[in-house]
Amino acid sequence: MSIVTNGRLLYAAHPTTFQLPGVHTKYVEVKIDLETVALDGGVLIRTLALSSDPVVRIRMRDPKIDHFFPALILGRPIDNWGVGVVVRSEKPGFQPGDFVYGFISFENYSVYPGPPEAQHQFQFLQKIAKHPSIPASVYVHDLGMTGETAYAGWHAYAKEKAKTSKTFFVNSAAGPVGTFLIEYVRHIHPHIKIIASAGSAEKLEILKEAGADVVFNYKTTNTGKVLAEHGPVDIFWDHVGGTVLDDTLLNMAQFGIIIRVGTVTGYNEEDTGIKNIKHVVFKSLTMHGLVIGIGEAMQTAAVPFLEEATKLVLDGTIKTREWRFEGLQQAGQALADVHFGQQIGKPIIIVAED
Ligand SMILES: NC(=O)c1ccc[n+]([C@@H]2O[C@H](COP(=O)([O-])OP(=O)(O)OC[C@H]3O[C@@H](n4cnc5c(N)ncnc54)[C@H](OP(=O)(O)O)[C@@H]3O)[C@@H](O)[C@H]2O)c1
Repeated sequence: MSIVTNGRLLYAAHPTTFQLPGVHTKYVEVKIDLETVALDGGVLIRTLALSSDPVVRIRMRDPKIDHFFPALILGRPIDNWGVGVVVRSEKPGFQPGDFVYGFISFENYSVYPGPPEAQHQFQFLQKIAKHPSIPASVYVHDLGMTGETAYAGWHAYAKEKAKTSKTFFVNSAAGPVGTFLIEYVRHIHPHIKIIASAGSAEKLEILKEAGADVVFNYKTTNTGKVLAEHGPVDIFWDHVGGTVLDDTLLNMAQFGIIIRVGTVTGYNEEDTGIKNIKHVVFKSLTMHGLVIGIGEAMQTAAVPFLEEATKLVLDGTIKTREWRFEGLQQAGQALADVHFGQQIGKPIIIVAED
């Protein structure tokens, strides 16, 4: 029987502050005929695992509001980074059984690239030679989007500076980007003092396990005070913006580098503004912003990523940590929960077994 139930998570309404499952996202079921569904030159994918990321919130907006990250379309399934297996293909180079990574629709089965109105600049599908002893879900984070962000960002903007640096600070670091980065920096630059912050005692344990030298809870300990004692900071990897960025600007070393990777304080509420920006001038600082896969520097730096990171995952240098949601019924909750900072490890939606 080729007609099966296809669960999907639809984008249902634009949130103004925090999103609510069942209001801004809705789980529905439809039927799909796996043998006859039109592919229009594309592929039919069976989804295995999908990523839940804070940045999806930026896509939950009126499409008239301009942003480099394309708006989600009301009434259509959400899409984000994920992995799956090809079921049928009309696309040259793709065969049934191929393991694929890319922007995948929040459905059990989906046709890639889908209808023209749902296609955007981030949509890509990459065939990956999956290692038999690494679970599929790991290709969504440590061997996918979050790992590549840390790896390529470091190689593009910090690696040269790191050779002469003493101190590296990363904030809200217990998530998948932060822990990959700490483990990787510990591995390739053993001389650097790593200072890392997070928002709970449980997260601090993860930072220590990953290899940070100085850890602190920024909610109970003043960031500026810790950095004044253990800094100045040569390289700052910023996941948050807001007051922590302000406090760190005061404690940067001369010729320091700030790499702005996330801006999570501004996702659900207004940005507070930066008071200490003058220190960029006084200390001759360089500030880079980055987005995975955008621009030559990030693309070139990512080339060796999968091969090198696979070895590091296999030998345990990079440890995988997952915060799992089982099934697409849980996907709305998974997208909402990442905005409360409770997650330990990569928030991931397991849609089907490998
Ligand atoms: N530029 C890129 O291409 C790119 C790619 C991937 C990820 N990112 C960004 O990099 C950062 C880390 O990514 P990740 O996947 O590893 O995320 P994550 O750490 O799992 O989640 C974000 C963390 O931010 C902290 N946080 C601080 N202020 C917050 C607030 N107001 N609301 C909610 N959380 C807050 C929380 O940790 P604490 O409780 O410890 O503060 C939370 O766990 C995120 O900002 C993400 O958007 C950027």
